[in-house]
Amino acid sequence: MNALQFLCFTIVLQWDNAQVDANLHCSANDLHALILARGGSKGIPYKNLVEINGLSLLARSIITISNSTCFKHIWVSTDDEKIALEAKKYGALVHIRPEEYARDETSSIEAIKEFLGAHKTIQNFALFQCTSVFLREKYIEQAVDKFQSHDCVFSVKRSHKLRWKFVGEQILPDNFYLRARPRRQDWRGDIVEAGMFYLSKRMLAIKGLLQNENCAVVEIAAEDGLEIDTYRDLTIARCIMNSKS
Ligand SMILES: *[C@@H]1O[C@H](CO)[C@@H](O)[C@H](O)[C@H]1NC(C)=O
Repeated sequence: MNALQFLCFTIVLQWDNAQVDANLHCSANDLHALILARGGSKGIPYKNLVEINGLSLLARSIITISNSTCFKHIWVSTDDEKIALEAKKYGALVHIRPEEYARDETSSIEAIKEFLGAHKTIQNFALFQCTSVFLREKYIEQAVDKFQSHDCVFSVKRSHKLRWKFVGEQILPDNFYLRARPRRQDWRGDIVEAGMFYLSKRMLAIKGLLQNENCAVVEIAAEDGLEIDTYRDLTIARCIMNSKS
């Protein structure tokens, strides 16, 4: 067994031990799902169309979102014809994004504002990132449920990393005290954004915000938190998905 196979084997073991899906359900309401999928991507070219187990990242996201039945429509905002075709194939609506909003420097919030500008009746939206390939219906249902009483909901993972920071030339602990290094078992950990989804409102987005002080979070299990940025991430995701099917 080589190192990557061993990694795959251990990940799959951990992954298998953690699968229990809750049985929440959300009914269709006035919420629109949005996937930003431009043609150019750094790192992995055409990343949104890369396949894992015969399904592109984009298709997989659309299917899971659609399976959740929480959304009025699923939109894909893209500047690219191939991506538009793939989106339609899986039943999503396509918003053609102007090139000037599909650059490397374009932030998500700028692309969201451009989308909302073209669709004036949409008040509530859920941004999904198809690089988070372990999106599950139960996370979506939890998020939609919490969104009823919050302005914003986003996905988080728990982190038990001891962080340090530079203060000038000095290096100092950032999230713990030197005299009281927390032990994993009695530390709740930090929460960090998982980047899987962001539910938010037009009134925030037009101000250039996805979040305010009235947000809720959905905690993503550690084994579902993988985001595809590199070919190595892709290898790990394929190995997990293949062993599942
Ligand atoms: C979507 O639902 C179908 C039918 O229940 C199921 O076969 C499929 O695995 C689900 N796909 C995803 C990606 O959730």
